[in-house]
Amino acid sequence: MTKLISVDRCRSGQGTFVVYGDRELAVFLLESPERVFVMDNACPHASGNLSGGEIRDGKVDCPWHHWEFELSTGVCTHSDRARVTCYQAHIRDGYVWAALS
Ligand code: FES
Repeated sequence: MTKLISVDRCRSGQGTFVVYGDRELAVFLLESPERVFVMDNACPHASGNLSGGEIRDGKVDCPWHHWEFELSTGVCTHSDRARVTCYQAHIRDGYVWAALS
């Protein structure tokens, strides 16, 4: 597991853009119960900034053309040919950790 970012630096209920090496990631921190999701930041449609998208019902809404992606799977609700890569993630010791492969 890779230590990505302090939970204190994540925007609760929104996405946070994180660069790790050559990867651009979106970290989504949700509360009640506290959960974290990590996926590639670039929308597979036209590289929109997913970390800037709104969260609704467990999905992120891409701010460019409003395709939605399930936070837990990356599956797009608008096209079964579009999917964003997600990484297993959890919170431990005040940090977000992700299994970047
Ligand atoms: S770039 Fe994300 S929906 Fe078009």
